[in-house]
Amino acid sequence: PKVREYKWSIVNRVGNPDGVYRHMLMINGQFPGPLIEANEGDTLIMEVENQSENATSIHFHGIYQNGTNWMDGTTGITQCPIAPGRKFRYQFTVNGQSGTYYYHGHVAVQAGDGLYGPLVIHSKDEKKLQQIPYVSDRVVMLQDWYHDLSSGLLKSTLEPGSESSPIPDGALMNGMNQRDCSKLGHRMCDNSTATLPSLALTANANHRLRFINTGAFAWFQVEVDEHSFAVTEVDGTDIVPTYDTRMMISPAQRYSIILNTNLTNANSFWLRARMVAHCWKEPNLPGPGADEIKAIINYVPSGKTKKTKGLTSQPSSRSWSKGMEVQCRDMNTTFYVPAVFDPPPPTADHSYYLRSNLEIGDWRLERGFFNQSTFRPNLQRPTLHRTIEGLSSHNETFNSMRNIDGVNEVCYDKKHDFVIQHSGVKVVDIIIQNFDEGNHPMHLHGHKFWVLGQGHGPFPGYKALGLKEHGQGMLEEGVLDNLIRRDVATAEGFGWLALRFIADNPGVWALHCHMAWHSEAGLVMQFVDRVDTLATWEIPEANRRLCEAPISELKKGA
Ligand code: C2O
Repeated sequence: PKVREYKWSIVNRVGNPDGVYRHMLMINGQFPGPLIEANEGDTLIMEVENQSENATSIHFHGIYQNGTNWMDGTTGITQCPIAPGRKFRYQFTVNGQSGTYYYHGHVAVQAGDGLYGPLVIHSKDEKKLQQIPYVSDRVVMLQDWYHDLSSGLLKSTLEPGSESSPIPDGALMNGMNQRDCSKLGHRMCDNSTATLPSLALTANANHRLRFINTGAFAWFQVEVDEHSFAVTEVDGTDIVPTYDTRMMISPAQRYSIILNTNLTNANSFWLRARMVAHCWKEPNLPGPGADEIKAIINYVPSGKTKKTKGLTSQPSSRSWSKGMEVQCRDMNTTFYVPAVFDPPPPTADHSYYLRSNLEIGDWRLERGFFNQSTFRPNLQRPTLHRTIEGLSSHNETFNSMRNIDGVNEVCYDKKHDFVIQHSGVKVVDIIIQNFDEGNHPMHLHGHKFWVLGQGHGPFPGYKALGLKEHGQGMLEEGVLDNLIRRDVATAEGFGWLALRFIADNPGVWALHCHMAWHSEAGLVMQFVDRVDTLATWEIPEANRRLCEAPISELKKGA
């Protein structure tokens, strides 16, 4: 195993990735942030210096952080924000997982200002697990793109009377696009440095493309003209290659596909990623074609995989015929088969029924809710600090906490800190009933959960799913065998989502909607695993020091 060290300065920059100038947040002046590529077992060190005007933090999405909950980067939960001018060193080992991940700012909607980048972990068995060998391996990040600073958009979104989340102005692929400035009249725009993304792929070979939706809000439908492809990875879980022509990807989800460059009718093709605008209430995008971002795939003879400069012509390839209905929900993964047999335990120790509600169309409350709780991060005393301090100082309230297996209303104010905790290793089910017409891609930090089921209408119950609840009923044979394990799954509008996870990872972990506007409205709750272990922990000095900044500094940009 290696130690990989990075020095990151977070800076404010003006950029025009698609032509339109705007203020952005970048790492070392780079957008998107640098690729981190590691092998399983490696230790990653990110020395972050905050040279921006915003308080910030970095979260490594999907990383287990086993034993290093301090490094999860969730402000108000595992750390205080890194105030302007301060430093923080993220250090952790990537163990027991591989595949496609990313990192992003976890203060407000900073990822939407550019603060994110890809993180790829290679498994020791990558070659062995590869059912279709490939000659190249790349990341394709898709992102909805706003031409205004996210803090301003957030403010107006949370204002009384605001109708819905802000609609993106366009989209980017790997931080690139080229918009027609003349159609975007009032914006400062110069697209002479902007380009359409392009991929040079050796002809007659297999190529792995790792898709990551790094956006704040939009779902993408992805296709490669005239090519079908094999889906081989779902959020870090390798699956038996499954062929398709189109793919749906929600914010924060990842899918790998294998593309075979075996067509002979042309040398270049469009890769299209379309924001699924009809899932929004008011799909008013500025300018024609704003909802679609295209990349040029160029076939190149082997030995010439370098970026081809000065492309002369655009592909004349055609999109897969319209007609496939695009639903506002996750791609159906029920027919996927994990490459490594890994079913969940047959029953759970606890089932929690949660109601998610964003008060859409009724923003008098201007907040998102899990049951009666709307999250407001405590920027000076994150949940992890309060928990450890309480337990280690033998604070009476917190000591009584050791006996609670379930919702903890004794130590936390459920109105803003909805905490469910467990002592020892427990198997936990979460059933989310979504009371909004919009969908919520739910993400649980520090774990991969099994998706027991998801659908429209009310949760049909364990029995209907062939599952067993607390020793009641029968488990249907084989029903758990091929369940997919991932870290983002969607509760569709007026629908439900049932998840199972093993609460074995000491720490405080957020469960939240990954639509940035929704999590910032408070659609966040927390799970505490292994209270028994936490009682023996101490708060690391560096983590504590972050909280010493004046509150005015901790709040900047939040
Ligand atoms: Cu990408 Cu809190 O998550």
